[in-house]
Amino acid sequence: MLGDKGSKTLSRTKCFVIPGDFVARKCGVEMLGHKGSKTLSRTKSFVILGDLESSWQERERKKMTSEELEIGETEEIAPGVLVERRCFFKTIALAFGSLALPGMARLASASEARLSYEEFLKEVIPVAKSLVGDTSLAGQHRYLLTLASYVVRMADVPVPEMRDSGQGAGRGTFIGGNPGGDPFNVLHWRMEPGSVIRPHPHTYGNVMTLGLEGEIRVENFEMIGVRDFDAKGTFKVRRTHSQVLTNGEVNLVNLERDYIHGFQASAKGGRGLDITTRIKPKRETPFLNMSKKPIEIEQGIYEASWGI
Ligand SMILES: [Fe+2]
Repeated sequence: MLGDKGSKTLSRTKCFVIPGDFVARKCGVEMLGHKGSKTLSRTKSFVILGDLESSWQERERKKMTSEELEIGETEEIAPGVLVERRCFFKTIALAFGSLALPGMARLASASEARLSYEEFLKEVIPVAKSLVGDTSLAGQHRYLLTLASYVVRMADVPVPEMRDSGQGAGRGTFIGGNPGGDPFNVLHWRMEPGSVIRPHPHTYGNVMTLGLEGEIRVENFEMIGVRDFDAKGTFKVRRTHSQVLTNGEVNLVNLERDYIHGFQASAKGGRGLDITTRIKPKRETPFLNMSKKPIEIEQGIYEASWGI
């Protein structure tokens, strides 16, 4: 929850965020904030936010009795400066939020708020733009997991007009698009009961898949050994994930890991989103032909070849 400095509402609701030049935190051994904060150093598990420069002396005089507060209770230690005793995890969550990727939710309560699709785009696009440039394994994970943290807050997504996906093993798979833009596209898909989207690699765009309704099994694979999308003949792939996507569940395709995926609809069918971000030059995408059964059951290893 955010508010104005000195806000009575904030005081009444035990909120503690006061926009200002100074931010200080103390939680266990970690501290972010003001130099010379002798008082703060005695206040483990407290968070202080606000412009303290003008009130530093007054707070020193008051000697912060806040260690006597119950967790969650606040005390005004100087005009416009509130102190709240917080548990460790709550403080860490706040610290992450305020390390401030643009537009990131800064408080747990804000992070839990449901977003309309338009609100989702408005919040996530600046963050996505700030992260998309790092295309390393870790950078893509950071990007995809961050997208996921926003997308799971969406209350609903308008269902667009759809056409045959062209990726199905047979009929019953459909795809359309929601407005996305820079840096990602938003594909909206629907699968009829029992339908299948054939396993295929992602060679130039990573994917964050979100389940919206129904039950869809999604599986990820990787080639064993050197990754080669032009390989002739057979090779081995390992199944790295197998999960059932239901409403709010996500699956990630990083171009460096888990970069092959395929879908199998349950008897309920299902619907979801693929948020795809192109980070490498586009090229033709093959399908993955796989042995019906794994050749090494425990390791989930299959014999495979590329097909069209
Ligand atoms: Fe895909």
